[in-house]
This record gives sequence, C-alpha cells and structure tokens, in this order.
Amino acid sequence: MSDRPRVLVTRVIPDEGLDRVREACDVDLWEDELPPPRDELLRRVSGIDGLLSLLTDRVDDELLDAAGPQLKVVSNFAVGFDNLDVPALTRRGIPAGNTPGVLTETTADLAFALLMAAARRIPEGVDYVRDGHWRTWGPMLLMGVDIHGATLGIVGFGRIGREMARRGGGFGMRILYHDVHPASPEDEAELGATRVELDELLAESDFISLHVNLTDETRHLIDADALRAMRSTAVLVNTSRGPVVDPDALERALRDGEIFAAGLDVTEPEPLPADHPLVALPNCIVVPHIASATGVTRGKMAAMAAANLLAGLRGDRLPTPVNPEVYG
Ligand code: GLV
Repeated sequence: MSDRPRVLVTRVIPDEGLDRVREACDVDLWEDELPPPRDELLRRVSGIDGLLSLLTDRVDDELLDAAGPQLKVVSNFAVGFDNLDVPALTRRGIPAGNTPGVLTETTADLAFALLMAAARRIPEGVDYVRDGHWRTWGPMLLMGVDIHGATLGIVGFGRIGREMARRGGGFGMRILYHDVHPASPEDEAELGATRVELDELLAESDFISLHVNLTDETRHLIDADALRAMRSTAVLVNTSRGPVVDPDALERALRDGEIFAAGLDVTEPEPLPADHPLVALPNCIVVPHIASATGVTRGKMAAMAAANLLAGLRGDRLPTPVNPEVYG
C-alpha cells in the first residue's frame, strides 16, 4: 500500500489545484457533474486523511464519524463555509480551510452585473428581441431605473461588500452599509460609505446588495417585513447565500410591485427548479451561483484549496483556516 495520504476530492476542480493534490496524494476524485449522493460521500470518506469538499457537501458529525479519527484536514473550495459544522471539526481538532480573498472582486463584479441587468431590464430586452417583438424605437419601452446617482445599500460590509461599495462609487452612487462590525473611519472615508441601521438602509436604498454570511442571525434576514420596508422602485441583489432571503416573500413582493426587481445568484432552494415561480417572473433574474466563476478566479480558488489541504496533511497550519481556534 502507498504511504501517500489518501484524499477525497468531491468534484473535478481546476488543474491549478487538482494537479498539486495529485502530485502529493492518492486521490479519489468524484468526477460526476452532480455532487456525490450522501450515502456515496459517507462511504468514500471512510479512512481518508484529507477531504477537499465543495459547498454542496455537508460536513458534520455524521460525516466525520464515517471518515474516522485519522482525518487531518477539510479544505472547502469556497469562501463561504456554512456547509461545514465548524464546532464539530474544532471539537475533533481538525482544521478546516476556505478560499477567501481571491474571489472578492470577481464576486463583486457579478453582483454589480446583476444590479445593472435588473435595473435596466437586460434579460427582458434580450427576450424581446429574440421573440421577434422589436418593431420600432419605443418611447415607453422597457423603462428601468437609474443607477448613477442612486443610493446603494450594502448589507454585510466585509471584503465583497466593500468591493461592491467601490463599484457603486464609480457610478456616482451614495453608499450606505449595515454591518454589526463598523468599518474604521478611514475605511468609511476611503469608500465613501456611511453606516446605518438595517431599517434605515432598507427604506433609503434604491439598490440593496446582500454580502453577509449565512448564520442563524441572517437566515431570512430579508423577509416580508424587510421587503415591505423597501422602496417600490428598489432592486434587491443577492450573491451571498440563498436562505438570507425568504423566497416566498420575495416572490410576492416582486409580483405585487412592492419592489422593482431582483437579481439572484443564490437561491433557496438551490438549485432553483425551472418551474419555480421566481424563475417565471420577468423582474427576477436568476443565475446559477456563478459569482466566482471566471477561469482565473476558479484557478486561484483551486490552488488555495490545494494549499490548505496539503498544509493540513503535513501537519502545518493552514494558510486560511476557518477555525484557527484548533491551533490553541
Ligand atoms: C461561493 O459561493 C463561495 O462561497 O465561494
């Protein structure tokens, strides 16, 4: 038997990471387009030294028991890690890593693209032309809302939220943010951003962009009341995690004209079935969780996920641990 570490990689990821893992480890690679079904995942983790997981894999006590006590590291190919039961990992002394930093700007780019597409009704315009309806220049055709000079409310002012502020600044927007941790006065000044309470942000913003982690506190943060507090011309953008928004309340708000439009990269549930009412609404743009999906960024994420995995297998500190408390 080889004395190389045994690892499970739960989907094909870019070569920038996979090649490094393959050079150092015996790799069981799940090659399907869909994630491994739960029973398959539990079977395959048995006896592994390292797990390179995706946000579609739930890593909890059941999985850690199935893996066994030799498991040294879990490396998540994502910045978000709500799929990991971090306390369970920490209790067992297993470090877990994520991929922060490298996808910040790419994700903010997509959030801004959704903001613009929803404001200016780009998908509706594309469908209009494709469906053969374009017969003349229409003085009232597909009127949207202005982006320049509007107020952008950013909920969650971490790395990605701040990049969103920069993009808004470039369009001459007024920037409000809400976060439990205030930014420093220097950062606020540099980004031209003002901290407000959530109620004020919802009421004052023309565009509301969500950049919080999914936690018990942020689950359905945007519910029926929050949507009612928004302007009827407001555009909601979600590139964080689907369950931050109550999907039934959003559907009602979009259908009843309580808000103008939404742009969603993430949904609850995920994937969103094609026959889900949100998909049918003309003022709702849904894309399939692609915010970090550029070749360069996914390559960097893969390299980072490999670096975390290999560090953990060597017993070194992970470059980007989500539970640094395991190191005492
Ligand atoms: C994607 O959603 C990520 O968390 O990286």
